[in-house]
Amino acid sequence: MTRGEGVLWAVILSPKGCVRALDFREGELVIFLDHQERSFVQRLHPQGKLQTHRGFVPHADVIGSMPGTAFLTTKGKELFAFRPTLVDYTMTMPRKSGIIYPKDTAHILLWADVRPGGRVVAGGVGSGALLLALAVQVGALGFVWGYDVRQDMLDFAAANLRQFMGGGPANTELKLGDVYENIDERDVDSIILDVPEPWRALAQSALALKPGGVVIAYVPTIRQAESFTGALRSSERFGLVQTVEILVRDWHIRDRSVRPNHRMVGHTGFLTIARRIIRPEEQTPVDDSPAASDSHSDLEPL
Ligand SMILES: C[S@@+](CC[C@H](N)C(=O)[O-])C[C@H]1O[C@@H](n2cnc3c(N)ncnc32)[C@H](O)[C@@H]1O
Repeated sequence: MTRGEGVLWAVILSPKGCVRALDFREGELVIFLDHQERSFVQRLHPQGKLQTHRGFVPHADVIGSMPGTAFLTTKGKELFAFRPTLVDYTMTMPRKSGIIYPKDTAHILLWADVRPGGRVVAGGVGSGALLLALAVQVGALGFVWGYDVRQDMLDFAAANLRQFMGGGPANTELKLGDVYENIDERDVDSIILDVPEPWRALAQSALALKPGGVVIAYVPTIRQAESFTGALRSSERFGLVQTVEILVRDWHIRDRSVRPNHRMVGHTGFLTIARRIIRPEEQTPVDDSPAASDSHSDLEPL
């Protein structure tokens, strides 16, 4: 579809859930991508322009065009204009902390069963990357509470959220607070912890989670994953514990050259996942999982 074909008034939803036009409008966020996968995120302004070392593209040319349209800079370099996806935005937004990368976020969203209408707590807001994905996923009927011990982090994340959503999302509350000490909410569906010592937030997580709810901790070192797992296993209120690491390998496929890319993101973090359980008092725990028998080692003593 091009401008000339006259299909300008089909509507789609903005990240905030408002109806918006199909073509680019003044004031919208746009991402320009080139063939080298370089990206430039800007807000469209009638007098604005995307300046590159190989010429510029006036925003006036983009306003009124369809997302996906190719533009040539004044020096003939080809670029495409899109509305930023959540991945585009997360990977280019300003950062003041480490963030949870999309490959890990994707796993978190499914394993924590985050869905429209869901109620989720995030411990450790940081730059807001995970929070943004949670807010988009739970939608207008859900709610996300984000805790951080630093007000500057909450302000920074709020700015990132506003920039993507086009205003403060109504389904999110950013709270100054320490999740080791207190989580106010009750009957939440899931809790995602990205704090240095997630095991210290377990007692509060157990109170806040609904029965059967999911807790996930994202930690950069296996020592932290081990400590969190130990705390989960010794708690009577959590079960079905597992730890995973998500590896994504890009492939280079061009002509006769078909091989994995030479570079990949080697390590980001570990995800330890558990369920909030209720075991009747008289019932003693019986762990007959393969992991439990593995811990005694498969090796015969010498
Ligand atoms: C790595 S950042 C979180 C990044 C975030 N998940 C994202 O994707 O952008 C960790 C954050 O946890 C916060 N934090 C550390 N301990 C905390 C605690 N006990 N309670 C709440 N927040 C805490 C830090 O201030 C920091 O902003």
